[in-house]
Amino acid sequence: MVFEVMKVPTTPFEGQKPGTSGLRKKVKVFVQPHYLQNFVQATFNALTPEKVKGATLVVSGDGRYFSKDAVQIIIKMSAANGVRRVWVGQNGLLSTPAVSAVIRERVGADGSKATGAFILTASHNPGGPNEDFGIKYNMENGGPAPEALTDKIFENTKTIKEYLIADELREVDISTIGVTNFSGPDGPFDVEVFDSASDYVKLMNYDALHGVAGAYANRIFVEELGAQQSSLLNCTPKEDFGGGHPDPNLTYAKELVERMGLGKSNSGVEPPEFGAAADGDADRNMILGKRFFVTPSDSVAIIAANAVGAIPYFSSGLKGVARSMPTSAALDVVAKSLNLKFFEVPTGWKFFGNLMDAGQCSICGEESFGTGSDHIREKDGIWAVLAWLSILAYKNKDNINGDKLVTVEDIVRQHWATYGRHYYTRYDYENVDAGGAKDLMANMVKMMSSLDEVNTIVKGARSDVSKVVNADEFEYKDPVDGSVSKHQGIRFLFEDGSRLVFRLSGTGSEGATIRLYIEQYEKDPSKIGRDSQEALAPLVSP
Ligand code: G6P
Ligand code: ZN
Repeated sequence: MVFEVMKVPTTPFEGQKPGTSGLRKKVKVFVQPHYLQNFVQATFNALTPEKVKGATLVVSGDGRYFSKDAVQIIIKMSAANGVRRVWVGQNGLLSTPAVSAVIRERVGADGSKATGAFILTASHNPGGPNEDFGIKYNMENGGPAPEALTDKIFENTKTIKEYLIADELREVDISTIGVTNFSGPDGPFDVEVFDSASDYVKLMNYDALHGVAGAYANRIFVEELGAQQSSLLNCTPKEDFGGGHPDPNLTYAKELVERMGLGKSNSGVEPPEFGAAADGDADRNMILGKRFFVTPSDSVAIIAANAVGAIPYFSSGLKGVARSMPTSAALDVVAKSLNLKFFEVPTGWKFFGNLMDAGQCSICGEESFGTGSDHIREKDGIWAVLAWLSILAYKNKDNINGDKLVTVEDIVRQHWATYGRHYYTRYDYENVDAGGAKDLMANMVKMMSSLDEVNTIVKGARSDVSKVVNADEFEYKDPVDGSVSKHQGIRFLFEDGSRLVFRLSGTGSEGATIRLYIEQYEKDPSKIGRDSQEALAPLVSP
């Protein structure tokens, strides 16, 4: 039986503008009739026809609430829009890095390759009927869609009049691996459900990094690397993330933080030497040592500094390194010292992808707990963990008798001793009034032109901080495609290298979030061991 294509009349919804990483809204918004459909059709209409007609697309995500319904809707819309086949991870589960790997590496039985993906995730935002859902589109290179495409999608959402759907198509059982065949007016249409972990695990092997959250962690850390099952916390994917907030940081990864000896309670049990957490879609990571927190800005710098010796994938050298603007300059110091190409890009992973496609960047990272490499075009939580494990193993290679283990803390302290330390912190003002936040930023832009006034305020508050010598609004011209991204954050640079950065978050689902990033560089080895709050106090407290 040939399925029929329905043209469903619709009207635009306001605010379907993809943010830093796709469209994120409350589930209550997404479940409105036509809401998801409008966005998906707007995306199909923004793509060039060959990326739709006859194409192979991946559809999956972090398994949050509403994902299963969304997968079925996107399958039916793909069928109606002339897509040739849809690949779905079993149960609709694929981490964001795994989707990137699948686009880049997976080859279908008939030689087919995917040219894009709908990733169903709101990353580290909570899930469940009262929380967030999200969707983003990734391109042929495995990376997030560039602004040119997301702008086009947004424009399409403002004028959309109808969408196409094969409404009568029978639901595909996404819990069972296998291929379901259909035939439509354009010919055959298939849905293939495949094992979520295998392509990704294979890729980690390619990297000689035996290499995600939940399904991946078990496969990689237990089955491949022989770790104990008990070393895995919360590794069963749930639609509401067990009611938790799936953001890997010191606030939300409570259980792990306690286990690593960084919490308030003292269980008397000696903490393990290494701990790590990932977010909902497993692209973010947090690295911990025993009673020790590694800042994401330090993490990428340390990985870059040690990659060539410790990680076989990089044995022939690094093509370059990159960080997002608000990320601390720890990586800059490494790049300079190792004579590596270095790039500072706006917040958002898509900017790294272009550099990687052009062969200019091997390792990159962001302060927002993202670290990754050019093995894919997304940040990769599991990769970061494996990179750290490789470095730990490398540093302990001559230490087989276990004389004195070189710990995570040792590695970080040695790094600071060599390169100096970037004290760093970030303040988030969440869910504030969007208009007010805009006004505040506009005010900051004004202040940039009168540094004397700024210095009067600063000095009036604390006489012990150095002078603001420069201020600007970060703008980026992509060296590969020449595209320009403006208004990417306001920077106040101090004489001693300290820095204050103000930026509006692009990932919230309601209101606005203002971020303030504070950084101070210390080269003096006698001053690198301070408590970071204490070291930054002059910049933080009035
Ligand atoms: C997502 C992107 C990251 C980016 C982060 C910034 O996680 O994938 O690349 O760093 O958003 O979030 P923000 O809320 O600061 O815009
Ligand atoms: Zn994420």
